[in-house]
Amino acid sequence: MNKRIEAALNDQVEKESSSSQFYLAMASWAENNGLNGTAKFMYQQSDEERFHMLKLIKFINERGGVAVVPQVPQPPATFDSLQQVFELLLEHEIKVSNSINDLVDICLAERDHSTHNFAQWYVSEQLEEEASARHILDKLRLIGNDKGGLYLFDRDMEQTAAQAAANTATQKKEK
Ligand code: FEO
Repeated sequence: MNKRIEAALNDQVEKESSSSQFYLAMASWAENNGLNGTAKFMYQQSDEERFHMLKLIKFINERGGVAVVPQVPQPPATFDSLQQVFELLLEHEIKVSNSINDLVDICLAERDHSTHNFAQWYVSEQLEEEASARHILDKLRLIGNDKGGLYLFDRDMEQTAAQAAANTATQKKEK
């Protein structure tokens, strides 16, 4: 495998792994703060990011490269509010999208069409994840500090988590 491509893919492995740990920390915080729907959603997000990481590791190894399991920074243990959690999630996803765009640029520069093709799955995934984070943040801004609204929001997140789990199960079957 082309070394530049291998390095860029391994860099992405680190990003996905770090996303998984970050969302796991958010899940744990939500669970400890009575936000069980949000916790389910975040546990699900964390699993999804682990799936993104595994998909990369398998791709690298199947094409003759060497996947490196990375050390990742420790995520925060506490957060100020639900809104802050989703602001951080969106900010993080934007960074991940930028990194995917860099990977795509490298694929084009190296004329690696198969990795370019593989990376397109991540391009669409990022579009969806950013849109979902923005949608959730819009809702939270509308709710503000209204306790009843936050209760209903958390209940809705449980449904969103169930839907996301079903989508991930389908993706895993397609793989
Ligand atoms: Fe797999 Fe949300 O980045």
